[in-house]
Amino acid sequence: MSEKPVGLKMEKLLFVFIMFVVVTGLALSRNTEYDSSLVSEHQSLMGQKRDMQDQIVQLTDRLKEVEKMKKHYPEVNFLSYKDRKRILNSNRLFLSRSIPSSRLITYHPSLQVTGGAGFVGSHLVDALMIQGHEVTVADNFFTGRKRNVEHWLGHENFELLNHDIVNPLYLEVDQIYHLASPASPPNYMYNPIKTIKTNTIGTINMLGLAKRVKARFLMASTSEIYGDPEVHPQQEDYWGNVNPIGPRACYDEAKRVAETMCYAYGKQDRVEIRVARIFNTFGPRMHMNDGRVVSNFILQALQNEPITVYGDGEQTRSFQYVTDLVDGLMNLMNSNCTLPVNIGNPDEHTINDFAQIIKRLVGGESEIVHKPAVEDDPHRRRPDITRAKQLISWEPKVPMMFGINKTIEYFHQEINRKKHSERNIWLPEYTLKSYDKL
Ligand SMILES: NC(=O)c1ccc[n+]([C@@H]2O[C@H](COP(=O)([O-])OP(=O)(O)OC[C@H]3O[C@@H](n4cnc5c(N)ncnc54)[C@H](O)[C@@H]3O)[C@@H](O)[C@H]2O)c1
Repeated sequence: MSEKPVGLKMEKLLFVFIMFVVVTGLALSRNTEYDSSLVSEHQSLMGQKRDMQDQIVQLTDRLKEVEKMKKHYPEVNFLSYKDRKRILNSNRLFLSRSIPSSRLITYHPSLQVTGGAGFVGSHLVDALMIQGHEVTVADNFFTGRKRNVEHWLGHENFELLNHDIVNPLYLEVDQIYHLASPASPPNYMYNPIKTIKTNTIGTINMLGLAKRVKARFLMASTSEIYGDPEVHPQQEDYWGNVNPIGPRACYDEAKRVAETMCYAYGKQDRVEIRVARIFNTFGPRMHMNDGRVVSNFILQALQNEPITVYGDGEQTRSFQYVTDLVDGLMNLMNSNCTLPVNIGNPDEHTINDFAQIIKRLVGGESEIVHKPAVEDDPHRRRPDITRAKQLISWEPKVPMMFGINKTIEYFHQEINRKKHSERNIWLPEYTLKSYDKL
């Protein structure tokens, strides 16, 4: 075998060496590229991580804020299954229908408040909720406001139905507090035919519901059924002096016929009825400018406007604070009394007295001015509450000055709010402690 020349070997070795250098160089440069892409990828991931950490911090802060905003309900009792009363909603209708009605009546007495988003109704709802009942409000928000019951929205025992009672309502119910009706003269005179329909067709609908489900029915009647009374103070067996075609007739006469309907259903269909003849009531959550004496005077005084007294101001009224009325309504509902019962404060004052009291309590510059008397304005109003004392163990307890100061506080907040979000939510004055006897 001929040996290869040394030069050739060297060339080969050189070639191999060069190839080694080239390949290694290429490999190294690839690794460097690979490393630098890893580094930039790492950096971008770290950037993303930082962003996400920032977002988590922001979300945690937001969550803490939301936690702070979490709805806190007034403290309520939680009654046992047997004792709890319910104002029913459509889910319950489904549930209840599967339970024999005899069991329902024995174990699940339930309540409904028509007009529960209004002034009186919302205070009644507070008291019923705090006692631990399940409450469904049916209201068309004509004069009522959601914010009157806003503190209960979402609570497991509370349901709010946007419902006009001129249309039938099909629910299971054990007790109905029937308050739906505008109550102040400008409101009930605004659409007199609707006022008549609400108090007649609406009352028939609610009585029909009471009949169907064997519910106890409380009708919020009014001292207006006495009209401009010739008897003083007014006892329940006084039949009244009402002008059937005057401007107040749409309310007065409709309430009178509503009472008639209650007793007809009581007699003919054995509906358990309760009739409360409510006298003038005042307190927080009254409507601004609803034309009633107390709200008018307080608002005028707070705004340093003249306090307007219609007529000579010697006509009398007796005003009760709203929590007294609520206690009276609940006492009546839970009593055996089927006769009409006056619920009012017999502490009688002239309108001139009221104007002076409110001017003094609010302070300010307002003058008291007189304007012509309003048509059919009753001259004297004072309830005889003997029946309420004897048959439902009720009489008013809240001193007038206390009530007026609370109402001034409410209207003060109401006129000083600058935007809607500062809306004046008046929390219940009842506490669980008020009812610890239950
Ligand atoms: N406040 C008083 O001084 C007084 C005096 C006597 C009688 N009342 C009676 O007490 C009840 C409540 O009075 P208030 O002062 O709370 O009045 P309000 O106007 O504040 O409340 C009445 C409620 O009924 C609702 N309503 C009206 N028409 C309705 C309809 N067709 N369907 C469903 N809801 C309807 C309104 O939206 C409102 O929420 C009324 O029946 C009234 O006649 C009140």
